[in-house]
Amino acid sequence: MRSRIFAIANQKGGVGKTTTAINLAASLALGDQAVLAVDMDPQGNLTSGIGQKGNYAPAGTIYEALTEESPPAVDQYIISTGVSGLSLLPSDRELAGAEIELVNASRREQRLRLLLDQVRDRYDYILVDTPPALGLLTLNTLVAADGVIIPVVCEYFALEGLAALTATLKQVRDAFNRSLEISGVVLTMTDMRTNLGKEVAAEVQSVFGNKVFETTIPRNIRLGEAPSRGMPVVLHAPRSKGTEAYVSLAREFLACTRSTRIPAGGTLRG
Ligand SMILES: Nc1ncnc2c1ncn2[C@@H]1O[C@H](COP(=O)(O)OP(=O)(O)O)[C@@H](O)[C@H]1O
Ligand SMILES: [Mg+2]
Repeated sequence: MRSRIFAIANQKGGVGKTTTAINLAASLALGDQAVLAVDMDPQGNLTSGIGQKGNYAPAGTIYEALTEESPPAVDQYIISTGVSGLSLLPSDRELAGAEIELVNASRREQRLRLLLDQVRDRYDYILVDTPPALGLLTLNTLVAADGVIIPVVCEYFALEGLAALTATLKQVRDAFNRSLEISGVVLTMTDMRTNLGKEVAAEVQSVFGNKVFETTIPRNIRLGEAPSRGMPVVLHAPRSKGTEAYVSLAREFLACTRSTRIPAGGTLRG
């Protein structure tokens, strides 16, 4: 097997990146996929939302894995989670220092790619959560990734800032990673009962065309409270709308990543 690596990215905060990373990863794992979730955000919300705050592997967190000049093998940093089939490369606040410490380091943009290359034969999917910024941590993630999943919150100004993200994707493609693709745009916190919800969805469609996942993620209280229980929503509230949505997203994601390889060098439609 050769893992497919996906970045969950959008430099806006609060758009559902971490929620999507946790719940897509858990839904894929419960669908019998071998999944590694990687927390590239110093806020560590993925780590805590999966119930692993403060649980480190012997070699430490992703901070040490990225910054040490000759780190031990990457599996020394990987821990298991309460979800069968889902492993985690955790982070904590220290990771914020990596942005500065790596500035003059060799191959500073490729550190994550080199780490994940070691375990590509071990997982079907590697999902990497990113911080709300386009700095070195997100750059490392995009250099490592085959595809990007962009969560877009379904409200006015939804598309604001996405030009900066797509410009960054283009730069990464040109400089480091020619095959980097937008795998999909997922509309989050939707309320399709309102006209605004429908209008924003239509606007996002007009820009991203068939890249927009058919599944949309509704605003759902269970999704909001699951991280405080340290569980993905599928375990916290198996019968909720949030679970239904992320299981459906996982199915759609599996279908589009399994059957067709994402074409290289594609451009944004619209
Ligand atoms: N579909 C949803 N319904 C309700 N609350 C949500 C939903 N998606 C995310 N949230 C909540 O919104 C906040 C921001 O989401 P998060 O996934 O952390 O965004 P990001 O990682 O992009 O900053 C969190 O408190 C999260 O629990
Ligand atoms: Mg987050």
